[in-house]
Amino acid sequence: MHTALEERLIRPARNINGSLRLPGDKSISHRYGMLSAFAQGTSRFTNFSTGADCASTLACMSALGAIVERKEDGVIEVTGVGGKVQQPTGPLDCGNSGSTMRMISGLLAPQQGEFTLIGDASLSRRPMERIRKPLTAMGAKLMLTEGHAPITIHGAPLTALDYTTPVPSAQVKTCVLLAGLQTPGTTTVREAVRTRDHSELALRAFGANIERGLDYVSISGTQTLSAIEGAVPGDISSAAFFLCAAALFPGSQLLLDSLGLNPTRASLLDVLTSLGTQIAVLNLEEKHSELVGTVQVSAPAEGLGSTSVTGALAAQLIDELPVLAAIAPYTRGGIRIRDAKELRVKESDRIALVVQNLRTMGAEVEEFEDGMDVPGGQTLHGATIDSGGDHRIAMAFSVAALRAEGETLISGSESAAISFPEFFDLLDFIAER
Ligand code: S3P
Repeated sequence: MHTALEERLIRPARNINGSLRLPGDKSISHRYGMLSAFAQGTSRFTNFSTGADCASTLACMSALGAIVERKEDGVIEVTGVGGKVQQPTGPLDCGNSGSTMRMISGLLAPQQGEFTLIGDASLSRRPMERIRKPLTAMGAKLMLTEGHAPITIHGAPLTALDYTTPVPSAQVKTCVLLAGLQTPGTTTVREAVRTRDHSELALRAFGANIERGLDYVSISGTQTLSAIEGAVPGDISSAAFFLCAAALFPGSQLLLDSLGLNPTRASLLDVLTSLGTQIAVLNLEEKHSELVGTVQVSAPAEGLGSTSVTGALAAQLIDELPVLAAIAPYTRGGIRIRDAKELRVKESDRIALVVQNLRTMGAEVEEFEDGMDVPGGQTLHGATIDSGGDHRIAMAFSVAALRAEGETLISGSESAAISFPEFFDLLDFIAER
C-alpha cells in the first residue's frame, strides 16, 4: 500500500513566545504502558503520550491479554495480565517503534507461547541482533530475519545473565531487565555510558526489586508487579524542538511546565546553556522518582555561541541531535557532533538526512561517519525538506525553517505524529509571525 506524503509549509517567524504543557514522555509512557499491562491490577495514567509509537505498545499489550481503556478525561486505564500473557491471535505489530519491539522481546522471551513481532519498513531495517545476543545467552529461542524483524520468539524459561552492553542503549538494557524480572536469580546489565534510567525507576514504582550502581543495574527474579497510578511528565525530547526554536530568537520567552527533567534525559538544557541561552528551572518535584519541573527559556541578545557534543553526552542527547544540528548554522561558532554513530540506525540514517537537508537549505556542513561539523554564521534559505518518514527530522527542519529566508516545505510531515501529533499546532501557537 502506498500512502501519499503530507506536506507542511513553514513560514519564517519573528519570535517565539508562549507557555505550554506538553504531552507525556514517550519513553516513560512505553514503560508505564508495558509494565501496567504485565502487572497485577488496574493502573491509571494521566498525560500519557499521544504519539503513535506508544499506541503501538498499548495495542501489542492488548493483543497479549491486557485491557486498555481510554477514558473521556484523557486518563488511560490498563488492567494487567498478572505476569502471564495470552497467546496473541496474530503477529504483534510494533509499527515504527524500536522501543516497543526491543522491550517486548525481553518481556516475551520467558513467557509460554509463540510470538511474532513485525514492524513497518523503517523498523524492519533496524538492528535487532543487539537484543538477540543477550536473550540467547539467557537461553531464549528467538529468531531474526537477517538480523532484523520479523522476530519469532518461542517462549521458554531462561537463566540469569550478567551482561555488558556493547552499544549504549536503554532499549537493550530494558529488554534484558524485563527478561530478568521473570528469571530466577539475579540478572545484571552493565553499561559504559549511563543511558536513560526510566525502566529502573518504573520497575521500582511497580514494586520490583532493583539494585543500581554507577555503571550497572541488577534485577532479581521472579517478581510480580503491582498496578500504580501516575501522571506522565511532559516529553523533554518533544520540548527540545521548542527550546531550540526559542534559543534562536533574542527576546523570546518560552515557559514549559510539568516537563520531565530526569537527569539522564535533560542534557539539552546544559548544552543550550553552554550556547548562551538563559534557562531557569522552577517548581521541581518527583513523580514516581521522575523529576518534573517548569523550564523558562530566553535567548541571548548576541546570538548563540558554539559547542561540541561528543562522548557520553552524544549518547545521552541522541534524540536531540537532529534539532541541535538543524539550528547550528544560526549559531556564531557552529556545532561539532561526534561519537553519535547510533544516529545512523534510528528511524532513518539521521546523519545522512540531516546533512542532506542542511545542504538543501544552502548550509555548509561536513559529514563524518559518527557525526558532523556544522559551521556557524550561515544564512539558510527555504527549501523542500525530505523527512525520510522520520518524525525527528520533520520537526527539526520545521525549527530550522523559522529562521530561514523564504518558506520551507516539510515533505512527510505526518511522521511527527509518531511521537508528537500536536507539534505543528503548538509550533504555530508559539511562533510570532
Ligand atoms: C529510547 C532509547 C533510545 C532513544 C529512543 C527511545 C528508550 O534508543 O533513541 O528514542 O525509550 O529507551 P536506544 O536505547 O536504542 O539508544
